[in-house]
Amino acid sequence: MATDSRDVLDRIDRDKESYLEELKDYLRIPSVSTDPEYREDVLRCADWLTEQMRAAGLQAERIETEGYPLVYGEWMGAPGKPTVLFYGHYDVQPVDPIELWRNPPFEPTQEGDHLVCRGATDDKGQSYAHLKAVAAMLAERGSLPINVKFIIEGEEESGGGAIEAFVRADAGDRLACDCVVVSDSSMYGPGQPSLIYGLRGMAYMEVKVTGPNRDLHSGTFGGAVTNPLNALAHLIAGLQDPKTGKVLVPGFYDDVLPLEDWERKEFAALPFDEDEYMEPIGVSQLWGEEGYTPKERSWGRPTCDVNGIFGGYQGNGAKTILPSWAGAKVSMRLVPNQDPEKIARAFTKFVQTLVPPGVKVEVIEHHGAEATLVSLDGPLVDAALAAMGDVWGKAPVKVREGGSIPIVATFNQVLGGPVLLLGFGLNDDALHSPNEKFNISHFYNGIRSIVRLLDRMGA
Ligand code: BES
Ligand code: MN
Ligand code: MN
Repeated sequence: MATDSRDVLDRIDRDKESYLEELKDYLRIPSVSTDPEYREDVLRCADWLTEQMRAAGLQAERIETEGYPLVYGEWMGAPGKPTVLFYGHYDVQPVDPIELWRNPPFEPTQEGDHLVCRGATDDKGQSYAHLKAVAAMLAERGSLPINVKFIIEGEEESGGGAIEAFVRADAGDRLACDCVVVSDSSMYGPGQPSLIYGLRGMAYMEVKVTGPNRDLHSGTFGGAVTNPLNALAHLIAGLQDPKTGKVLVPGFYDDVLPLEDWERKEFAALPFDEDEYMEPIGVSQLWGEEGYTPKERSWGRPTCDVNGIFGGYQGNGAKTILPSWAGAKVSMRLVPNQDPEKIARAFTKFVQTLVPPGVKVEVIEHHGAEATLVSLDGPLVDAALAAMGDVWGKAPVKVREGGSIPIVATFNQVLGGPVLLLGFGLNDDALHSPNEKFNISHFYNGIRSIVRLLDRMGA
């Protein structure tokens, strides 16, 4: 029975519609962690999830933190067998720009195989597949082939530190496990399962340039007073070499772990069509750091990007002023072994040197996250690879990803076992964008993959 999981897979085929309806209930809770206005919804979402874990047959509780609660659940009825820890996040990104959504962002809408809703792929749909797999196995057999634990956080999207503090203090006590499974990323392509072995890190900065104590008439004062927006533009332009794409923050590349030859070969061997990559995002040319391919740049090289810039007159028509201040949000994606704090300090120091006299610069260091490389060796990794192959009918490719999941580096350091990054999303899922979606077939195949993974790990 456990060799092909047929019993549980049949049950999933019978019950999958009800799993989808439950996922829709989960998606209807607008758990936006970055916006305090949604606080009650985020908390309600934690309670909903705790209840779902209990209904599945887990011992579950809400763990309070200084930020949003963690939801923890476990089933430890297989002594002597391995323990897998499932991680996910129940918080979601904000919905703006709301006018671009085809449907209300928190009303899950089926469009063919797509379930459109904020959080559909990132990360409610993907991580709920873990829970439904366990629920289906417990319902069918009354037991699991191995032990499972779940830790689902509520502030991944806001770079919150609650789970970080918890995992470090726990130090592998309650969270002791043989491997971690995370589904919060994408497959390399449609129908192509993937195991990710590297994620980038992050140093998120905010820059504020302050000049005169009020907006000034640009005729009366223009030419005699430093303009904070001009100064900010100058500063931003100084962050990156326009020809080579190199980041100019001194020391930025000092600790960068170079891409290895075997990785560059494997990346190059993956199917990649530049036009197919550009078409859905509406660009006509790619650009980036000299000497690297697009995949190498987004998976294995650090970057510095402006996320937003503000200040001055933004209304209709023309208004002739020198603005009093200007600001920008800047994120740097980091790679192993860059230290987010060291990079943030280097940025802050460098920025002070880039502004002309007559204005003040203030730098705020927001959240950071370490990049990570995880090991892909051992029988549990092999079991996961085989399980993905069973369900998707194709062996997974081993790839890196450009996004960040801050807690993964800590899991990797503190918990010992391998971290398996098994994404069920697709690159066109529009995560963080309007009309985010998750393919319903991927939700079901995600559930099936985890069933196979547990059976194979238990064998
Ligand atoms: N699930 C994403 C990260 C991701 C996306 C990994 C695609 C691999 C492929 C996650 O929810 C996310 O958005 N992370 C943030 C982290 C930041 C707020 C520290 C990110 O990468 O911007
Ligand atoms: Mn996510
Ligand atoms: Mn996200």
